[in-house]
Amino acid sequence: MNQIVLDHVSFRYPNGFLANEDLNLVIGQNEQVAIIGQNGAGKTTAVKLMNGLNKPTKGTVLINGMDTKEYTTAQIAKHVGYVFQNPDDQIFNQTVYDEIAYMPKYYKYDENEVKKRVHEAVDIMQIREFLKSNPYEIPYTIRKFVTIASILVVEPKYIILDEPTAGQDLNGTKILVDLLSYLQEKETGVITITHDMEFVADNFKRVIVMANKHIIADGTAKEIFSKDEVIAESKIKRTEMGIIGNELNLGKDILNPKELVDAVKNRMGD
Ligand SMILES: Nc1ncnc2c1ncn2[C@@H]1O[C@H](COP(=O)(O)OP(=O)(O)OP(=O)(O)O)[C@@H](O)[C@H]1O
Ligand SMILES: [Mg+2]
Repeated sequence: MNQIVLDHVSFRYPNGFLANEDLNLVIGQNEQVAIIGQNGAGKTTAVKLMNGLNKPTKGTVLINGMDTKEYTTAQIAKHVGYVFQNPDDQIFNQTVYDEIAYMPKYYKYDENEVKKRVHEAVDIMQIREFLKSNPYEIPYTIRKFVTIASILVVEPKYIILDEPTAGQDLNGTKILVDLLSYLQEKETGVITITHDMEFVADNFKRVIVMANKHIIADGTAKEIFSKDEVIAESKIKRTEMGIIGNELNLGKDILNPKELVDAVKNRMGD
């Protein structure tokens, strides 16, 4: 059974800055989890602990039973794939095809298999037309999809998406929603960092909130948004509908238009 376990984990950068303190977390087989929280809370640092890019300064990280301190990042990458927050930190090939084909070639899949997998991955991300492009000459949001495809292509058991929604329009967000369904069907776990609260409320049953180096809440979106103290400490904001519902004293945990309409009708005694 697949599992990511963080057991009393702290992480200090080489310059001495403590970015994560005493994180405790279990992410089970094919769970889809959102991580939210203000800039600088320690989200990216925490997910890099989950694929071995960061090794804990204190505590233990176990990936499917493997202690990350005892394995290389390349070994862990088969279990947990990390899509970087900034695609430019990840991309290093001259064409989109070569970028996505890099990992399957590294794992020595035969040529036909590499081709087949690359084509599957670009179709999921809807970027086939860019296969021959230079990754640095395509828009940021497409470049981000290239980095997602380049992780998808080796089918890790968990995929970490660090701010995939940043800058995406409705169509881009729809591609990400479809990606989550696809990964659910393939029983792939997903950890998504995002600042898009609508995306969180609509797509994730489990939400983890980070603030100032710590995990301060872990539950459903409704549970999270019900707690004023969690919202204040993490400086997250409710969904647009949630803000209106809260302002009108219709409830703190309204997430979407339907719930807002229902609450208004209820108030009017309908
Ligand atoms: N390489 C580094 N060396 C020292 N400090 C770092 C390093 N990388 C990040 N930090 C600091 O660690 C803290 C947490 O950073 P992190 O990138 O994990 O936050 P985040 O929650 O992902 O924020 P954002 O929403 O802006 O992406 C920040 O104060 C950041 O400045
Ligand atoms: Mg970050």
